[in-house]
Amino acid sequence: MSRTRLVGAAASCVASVARVMGAVRSRARRAATGGLVLAGAAALTGCATDAPQDTWQPKGPNAKIIDDLQKPVFAVAGIVGVLVVVAVGWAIWRYRDRGQPIPAQTHGNPVLEITLTVIPALILTVIGIFTFRTVLELSKTDDTELIINVTGQQWWWEYDYPVQEEFGITQPIITSGQLVIPAGTKVLLRETSRDVIHSYWIPALNGKRDAVPGRVHTLRIEADEPGIYAGQCTEFCGLSHANMRMEAVALSDADFATWVANQQEAYVAPAAGSLAKAGEDVFLNQCVRCHQVNGLLRADGTPAIAAPDENVWSGAAPNLTHLMTRNTFAGAIFDLLTPECRQRVWGASSADFGERYLAGVSAECLNENALRAWLRNAPAVKPMYANPTQLTATGGKYRGMPNLGLSESDIDKLVAYLLTRQ
Ligand code: CUA
Repeated sequence: MSRTRLVGAAASCVASVARVMGAVRSRARRAATGGLVLAGAAALTGCATDAPQDTWQPKGPNAKIIDDLQKPVFAVAGIVGVLVVVAVGWAIWRYRDRGQPIPAQTHGNPVLEITLTVIPALILTVIGIFTFRTVLELSKTDDTELIINVTGQQWWWEYDYPVQEEFGITQPIITSGQLVIPAGTKVLLRETSRDVIHSYWIPALNGKRDAVPGRVHTLRIEADEPGIYAGQCTEFCGLSHANMRMEAVALSDADFATWVANQQEAYVAPAAGSLAKAGEDVFLNQCVRCHQVNGLLRADGTPAIAAPDENVWSGAAPNLTHLMTRNTFAGAIFDLLTPECRQRVWGASSADFGERYLAGVSAECLNENALRAWLRNAPAVKPMYANPTQLTATGGKYRGMPNLGLSESDIDKLVAYLLTRQ
């Protein structure tokens, strides 16, 4: 090889090494930039100002007990996490391959190994003691004052209040979507399910508890102040699991008594000849197959009794007797209130909240678009295994509400009728 060729080969070799080093550096830069962007995005997702399901904002004693545990545990875990990341990063950088000879190989370091076993064991023991104490404290139910049965099904929650004279409940109350409780009262939820496993979770009031078919699980909740607290089903339960929400509504004792009295009011039929009266007929023809309205009579004067067990896989459909006293429907995913009226309720101070909530849904505040879309074709706005012929496992029964094929004129009548369900 001539000298010039050798020099040329060396130069091109140096150039390609430089290119490779450049590529490695720019790849490292890209990786670092990507990592920073990801970390930034992850941090920013924690910055919501309007986050009603924030687990760091307890609004009642049970959630506070959890918060008192999770804060120190989170701090300890955070410190350990940072120390580990820094130590690993330092070791990677300090002992990276720089072409140095392989160091002397050792095996085992009893002092280090025992230390690094004992320290985590001690940390976990301390955390374990406080966790057990918290779990036992949360599982206490002998101090509860009001009982509400909570039943999950695809994809909504039913609440029934057994007779409890001390709260003015002289006949069972059945409602859905929004759990109404008195603030400052320890409430015992007795949870079960009619189909698959669901899980009940209002983060501001307590941790989650699974609702399991054939079992009753208890959960104690209490809200410090009147207000509305959001939650959602937290156990995957089929197609509309993500559309199975709930809200807990806490009222002052006086407002709760008003709510209870309202729920027990006798049925008042719409005035003869009104659009709402025509809607009552449509309801009797179409809806009463699954939905109960307490006190509703058929044309022949006999009580109209719903038979959801014949039509729906879970055997239940929401009781609509006082639909317009709640302000969401269909698993609490659609608002019965227009955005402005909803904001009046959700944005209310605890002093104003009760009055605004008890106002219910007026004709001016009714979010007609959502209600009409639901009546027009429910499975189009909430996935619900719409085709029962494909449901061999359910014997052709619906899960959720089917498309009833109602005419627009029937929908007009039904909206007018439902608006009278105050
Ligand atoms: Cu019910 Cu998820």
